[in-house]
Amino acid sequence: MKISIIGAGFVGATTAYRLVERKMCHELILLDKDADMAKGKALDLMQAAPSLQSDVMICGTGDYQMIENSDIIIISAGFPRVEGMSRDDLLYKNAEVVKAIVPNIVKYAPKSILICVTNPLDAMTYLVHKLSGFDSKKVIGMAGLLDTERFRAFIAEKLQVSASQVQTIVLGTHGAPMVPIINHTFVAGRPLVEILPPKDIDDLVQRTINAGAEIISYLKTGSAYFAPAGAIFEMTQAIVRNQRKILPASGYLCGQYGFNDIYLGVPLKLNKDGISEIIEINLTKDEQLRLEKAAEHVKKMIAIL
Ligand code: 2OP
Repeated sequence: MKISIIGAGFVGATTAYRLVERKMCHELILLDKDADMAKGKALDLMQAAPSLQSDVMICGTGDYQMIENSDIIIISAGFPRVEGMSRDDLLYKNAEVVKAIVPNIVKYAPKSILICVTNPLDAMTYLVHKLSGFDSKKVIGMAGLLDTERFRAFIAEKLQVSASQVQTIVLGTHGAPMVPIINHTFVAGRPLVEILPPKDIDDLVQRTINAGAEIISYLKTGSAYFAPAGAIFEMTQAIVRNQRKILPASGYLCGQYGFNDIYLGVPLKLNKDGISEIIEINLTKDEQLRLEKAAEHVKKMIAIL
């Protein structure tokens, strides 16, 4: 198993650390257009590996040839959001970043599975899919899981329970129109709607929608990376270990939920080949309407591209 991470910023480097710590591959490539930064972080990680009892071979580079024959490629390159920006404000700049990366992936790792993390997430994943020409089963966007983990964390904090006992799912798009599915939200098997009044649930939903921006308001010049790296790690693990785990992530829809030719956050079953199934869960009328709003939003981005 060879994994390459393109973009050695905070998200890419933190993901690399998790992959090395959990021995998720034999070889890990950290690539960045700033080759020295990639080399420096890779060296630091290599020197951390003994304390992690990890034998993963780690290489930092700016040379795309190094990603040759990767099994999985994580695209975490791109401009981050800074204060006052929405994810959509990154559309033009990050489209250029993605356009520079994808031909190299096609050239050196045509059989790889791609996990896209660049914002605006759903539109960028669509772009990666179209530019690569890869089967949509092998092009997945990471965000629904991040939003879901954030919602879980906030529910757990509010109720003072272990997050491991909170089950929920956030669908739609990684942005303001995301759709936390309250009717599929349980705490140790009890529906959340039986535990908290609607106003409290709504506050938690709003905090989840603003979670990325809340962090940026403190960091000022950068955005979140521990939780995004955690979500990338979980998705990668599901593929590497052939777990057949159902995780919310951005997948290409052909008729599911009534949408076509779009990337949208839905429950995806991940196995060694990428997406093995797109799961359609029952939604209330209101949730379906909100999902349609999310889809409209993504379609607008795609039309601009
Ligand atoms: C986040 O939600 C920046 O999209 C990233 O933290």
